[in-house]
Amino acid sequence: LVVVIDFGAQYAQLIARRVREAGVYSEIMPHSASAERILERKPAAIILSGGPQSVYAENSPHIHPAIFDAGVPVMGICYGFQEMAAAMGGVVAKTGLSEFGRTPVEVDEAGALLEGCTGATVWMSHGDSVTSAPEGFTPLAHTAGAAVAAYENTTKRMAGVQWHPEVLHSDIGQQVIENFLVKIAGCSQDWQASSIVDEAVAAVKKKVGSKKVLCALSGGVDSMVAAAIVQKAIGDQLTCVYVDHGLQRKGESDQVEKDFVEITGAKLVVKDVSDRFLAKLAGVIDPEAKRKAIGNEFIRVFEDTAREIADADGIDFLVQGTLYPDVVESGGGEGAANIKSHHNVGGLPEDMQFQLIEPLRTLFKDEVRAAGMQLGLPEKLVYRHPFPGPGLGIRIIGEVTRERLDILREADFIAREELTKAGLDRSIWQFPVVLLADVRSVGVQGDGRTYGHPIVLRPVTSEDAMTADWGRLPYEVLEKMSTRITNEVREVNRVVVDITSKPPATIEWE
Ligand code: XMP
Repeated sequence: LVVVIDFGAQYAQLIARRVREAGVYSEIMPHSASAERILERKPAAIILSGGPQSVYAENSPHIHPAIFDAGVPVMGICYGFQEMAAAMGGVVAKTGLSEFGRTPVEVDEAGALLEGCTGATVWMSHGDSVTSAPEGFTPLAHTAGAAVAAYENTTKRMAGVQWHPEVLHSDIGQQVIENFLVKIAGCSQDWQASSIVDEAVAAVKKKVGSKKVLCALSGGVDSMVAAAIVQKAIGDQLTCVYVDHGLQRKGESDQVEKDFVEITGAKLVVKDVSDRFLAKLAGVIDPEAKRKAIGNEFIRVFEDTAREIADADGIDFLVQGTLYPDVVESGGGEGAANIKSHHNVGGLPEDMQFQLIEPLRTLFKDEVRAAGMQLGLPEKLVYRHPFPGPGLGIRIIGEVTRERLDILREADFIAREELTKAGLDRSIWQFPVVLLADVRSVGVQGDGRTYGHPIVLRPVTSEDAMTADWGRLPYEVLEKMSTRITNEVREVNRVVVDITSKPPATIEWE
């Protein structure tokens, strides 16, 4: 285990991912964790993350100095690099030379940390700089704004860099992290996301014993992989529930049956409740009102179903597809994890006391996919694009009706089929297709005038949905989509492409 100490949330997550990519298991702990709590985990190494502050600022976060005396290898990154320098007797100063963004770095002596490297362009973001390395530490590199941009002490097994090796913009990022882990800390690179499956299966077996478990399938990757792990562990003691609200894409419900049930052998209860949902959505146009209507009804159906199954079978556990980014404690403290998982349970009534099983709570999304492949789930299921809980309901701009859902489902199916045919499923991160149901425009088809609806194609690229860029689909692919949609979906006579990034737009239209 490599512990990444979090001095400022987004950096720590990226570092933990890179360490795992290097084949070493890694978890994040907040900087406020006591030295005992950190060392209790018996880390093979500790990495101090970057963070927004100056080490000399009042209230800036610090780690207990005992961490540096424990004989555990430590790497400092950016803020962590300065924190280590200051703690070990080096000098950190406000030089007035800030560096932000791509910065050329000159390597003076490669050492173990920068082995094989003579110079590179790296991602910097700092105000203060280390002007003098601590005694016994060899300065390895400098930049225009940082006299000491990297150092190491191989006897103490400590090292650090001023730049951010965890971001993809840094040339030698992954190499530096691996050099630290392997050459300085002596970690072995034998962890892989798929090995988590066996551990998770064993853990679920032990926790559940002969009791009964319920899992809500959303059709998304996370809930299916979580369910597949639990199924592998306890077989028929698991019941999966799929709420078919009628807002799914074409083929979705079948896919759950075919690609999930047939492969895992899981017991599945499908609740066809599209009438209930459409009734709740009648006359609703406001996006927030739609989301509320769908969300509330979903909870109600799930509640009813859970109660039915619980009455019949006695359910003790509920499976959640919670991922690591949802449970990581950031600087804030211990509360975060709980608030989120309660929220995920989706407002089950208080008199239903379930314990949670969260087999994916140590994994990142890409690792969940690796686990899914390991479990034998089909690639097209494992690499599905994210799909919002409210489904096509928030991709119809205007009132949601059965007829409009059918139009959108058809157009969406064609667009996705062409995307897959073009081999672009993985380079496009998500691909909403939107029906502007209250907009009509004039067209001509055959010899006649048409007055139909526009369909919006919204391909985006992204890493985490927080920001996104519009996806540059090749013209030939767009042409096929447009021709097929207008030919095959009678009500649509115009196809447009959304070329807005997020921000200022969001990925979805509602
Ligand atoms: P926006 O539109 O906010 O979407 O840029 C960001 C990501 O979140 C998804 N999304 C949702 N997922 N329930 C979900 O499970 C929702 O209510 C919901 N709304 C948006 C969206 O598809 C995108 O991936």
